[in-house]
Amino acid sequence: MATLLLTGAAGRIGTALRPRLREAGHELVLFDEREPADPVAAGERLVIGSVADLRTLDDALAGVDTVVHLAGIPTEDDWDELVAVNLTGTKNVLERAAAAGVLRVLQASSIHAVGRVTEPEQAPASIPGDLLPRPDTYYGVTKAAMEMLGSLFVDRFGMSIVSARIGAFGERPTSRRALLMWTSGDDLARLVGATLGLREPGHHVVWALSHNQGSPADLRAGEAIGFVPVDDAAIVLDDGERSALPDEDMRFLGGALADVPLGRRST
Ligand SMILES: NC(=O)c1ccc[n+]([C@@H]2O[C@H](COP(=O)([O-])OP(=O)(O)OC[C@H]3O[C@@H](n4cnc5c(N)ncnc54)[C@H](O)[C@@H]3O)[C@@H](O)[C@H]2O)c1
Repeated sequence: MATLLLTGAAGRIGTALRPRLREAGHELVLFDEREPADPVAAGERLVIGSVADLRTLDDALAGVDTVVHLAGIPTEDDWDELVAVNLTGTKNVLERAAAAGVLRVLQASSIHAVGRVTEPEQAPASIPGDLLPRPDTYYGVTKAAMEMLGSLFVDRFGMSIVSARIGAFGERPTSRRALLMWTSGDDLARLVGATLGLREPGHHVVWALSHNQGSPADLRAGEAIGFVPVDDAAIVLDDGERSALPDEDMRFLGGALADVPLGRRST
């Protein structure tokens, strides 16, 4: 069993992963600049701090063997803020992890690193997990650049890093796009499990998606590191629920975010 540092532990994904990772027997260090809504449980240690604060990151990394880096701004926003949190923050996490000898990291990239891939390219299983970035927003640019940091730290420090292109995360799919690009909590926990099994240095850019019927995502890059998602958005919802889903712009892989004004906070 592992001791995992979960940055951004108070967020939506961190909150969903915590019980799943505890159930798998792991100890957790929860790191966030705000208090998690769910109380700290047995087997968890809470460190309140920012990814801008190197000393607090060092405290959090004590005794850790793998990092799950989720802290960040999860949507389009002001350029300087995105760069400070998503990019410099990631550089800080990787730098302090390498210095502490913590060489395994899963970092939360995003579908928006390739969000401007257009619909004609979206035949089933046609888009590899490690497709060259084609970001749809400044947010997507920070996620693509985060992947490059992953590459750098693998080459410089012999780390094992998974850059996980997460899709529409949630307990249930809530849009038509999510029917194809949904990420379930259980499947993301499976990807953490696959990351824990990595023993050799390497950078792996993979789809962190469930096994959704008809999805354009080619899941083989993840399968190559032992990530086999089992959930399927089409099965989670019944016919009525599926047809009641709100329509969404499907011209681009990034959905509605692919057309928002650049640099303005988007909800
Ligand atoms: N939710 C999704 O569908 C989705 C999809 C693709 C990628 N992602 C990525 O996954 C990660 C987590 O997403 P989420 O939906 O849980 O977002 P969220 O906003 O719910 O959680 C992010 C957490 O990071 C923390 N945080 C922000 N800035 C920080 C800082 N400077 N120092 C420390 N903590 C800080 C916040 O307090 C928050 O608790 C993000 O990096 C996001 O870009 C999310």
